[in-house]
Amino acid sequence: LPTAVVIVAAGSGTRLGYGMPKALVPLAGAPLLLHSLRGAAGAGLARQVCVAVPPGDTELTELCRTFAEELGDAGPEITVVPGGATRADSVRAALAALTPGTRHVLVHDAARPLTPPEVFHRVAEALGRGAAAVIPAMPVVDTIKSTAPTEGEASAIAAEVVTGTAVREQLRAVQTPQGFDAATLLRAHEVAAAWEPEQAAAITDDAMLVESLGTPVYLVPGDLQAFKVTTPMDLHFAETILAAGS
Ligand code: CTP
Ligand code: MG
Repeated sequence: LPTAVVIVAAGSGTRLGYGMPKALVPLAGAPLLLHSLRGAAGAGLARQVCVAVPPGDTELTELCRTFAEELGDAGPEITVVPGGATRADSVRAALAALTPGTRHVLVHDAARPLTPPEVFHRVAEALGRGAAAVIPAMPVVDTIKSTAPTEGEASAIAAEVVTGTAVREQLRAVQTPQGFDAATLLRAHEVAAAWEPEQAAAITDDAMLVESLGTPVYLVPGDLQAFKVTTPMDLHFAETILAAGS
């Protein structure tokens, strides 16, 4: 079915701390977005790749234009849209620019530059088996606790206290690309666009919006190399992986 990949690249990269949008930060000499674009187009699934860039950006837009030129008629159509203040706003902006008739959408973080094509394929295959939502997931290695701020005398000891421990075997760390039936994802984002700011601020992926519609979200195996570049250590790790592979 007609498939599009959305790449969200409109974040500021505050935690990476390069003083430029994270998608522009070089990895092995090429901006993160170029790695992600090559991965998304190279997976060979999409007839359109729609990239959300920071509002007012020129550099990432130019990078997309050059990439589209290199691909020529052989590759997917590359569309660029200005992103929004939050990741969900950026996804919404990209969804509005999809070619009519798009049936499947894979939403991918520009910040996951080393995502192997197999992950795209596993997600797309599960969509092909009839799922409306599919996400790549990994087992969790750390034990995850819920916490609350301390109150009263306890606050003299530490700022936070444990309120519970989740069962680790049931937990998964989820990655992108997250795949969706296009109409389902559009509806989920329309609903979320009306959420209160506090609720909207807690949106960290697209699947949780679809979950709130009551639609089943299926899991397929992710990949260690689909990790997100968030901190300087992650970028260092990505450099090391690329150096080892060449
Ligand atoms: N993103 C986006 N629009 C936003 C915020 C984030 O398109 N308003 C994208 C980022 O570009 C990234 C992905 O969502 O590809 C995951 O976000 P994250 O890792 O948090 O990136 P940043 O928001 O750029 O980083 P930070 O939170 O450290 O500022
Ligand atoms: Mg962010």
